[in-house]
Amino acid sequence: MDIILDEITKKYKRDKREFTVLDKVSVTIPHGKFTVISGDSGVGKSTLLNIIAGLSRPTQGKVYYGEKEITSLGDDGLSELRTGFMGVMTQNCELIPYLTLRENLKLAYDISTGNKGDKRAVSDEFEELLGALGLSHLQNEYPSSLSSGEIKRAAIARTLIPHPKLVIMDEPTANLDRKNVRAVLQLLKSFSIEGSTVIISSHEQEALVEADFKYELEYAT
Ligand SMILES: Nc1ncnc2c1ncn2[C@@H]1O[C@H](COP(=O)(O)OP(=O)(O)O)[C@@H](O)[C@H]1O
Ligand SMILES: [Mg+2]
Repeated sequence: MDIILDEITKKYKRDKREFTVLDKVSVTIPHGKFTVISGDSGVGKSTLLNIIAGLSRPTQGKVYYGEKEITSLGDDGLSELRTGFMGVMTQNCELIPYLTLRENLKLAYDISTGNKGDKRAVSDEFEELLGALGLSHLQNEYPSSLSSGEIKRAAIARTLIPHPKLVIMDEPTANLDRKNVRAVLQLLKSFSIEGSTVIISSHEQEALVEADFKYELEYAT
């Protein structure tokens, strides 16, 4: 199921004046591929990702998941769509402060899959994912004792643990060191190889190299 953006326009207001961030953006994001949206800071990458994820509504234009138009869905329809199908990580990826890293992942998994707290259900997958992101030794830590890079990787793990068919992440590699940039990109790429549609924003050269499909946003005006 491709994701089709049909003439997406987004206008914001600043100091009572309206300005256009996205001006009739039309693009088809291919199913089961690794897509990287690039462009300068402030060009509208986060805005576009939030619209694709149904977190923000376009001023004009439509978003389709395959045949299904999502821009006209109400909040219930959107949250139904999100649960179990989508994994979304916005730019401010916050963890729940009173849960450990592992408990944060577990909660995301349980909510998304309807697991009723069975501890054994997922332990191999947890280990694998935490290992791939270099987080194994931190799983019992609370977010307050993690560095910003570790929180970012934990948020990535939390988004991926339910194995969403559609993964949307805003700048997942920003502020990570080279080794972790590579680890995150490899992980996202492996999800697309296993059939998930993965869409991220990044201006990382390495992300563009890994991308199956690239879309560069340009300033609207
Ligand atoms: N909720 C908002 N209200 C007003 N302006 C916004 C809002 N969100 C983003 N903007 C503005 O829209 C432009 C694009 O922002 P954004 O999508 O975050 O860009 P990027 O992610 O590419 O850096 C920026 O000028 C930003 O200040
Ligand atoms: Mg952004």
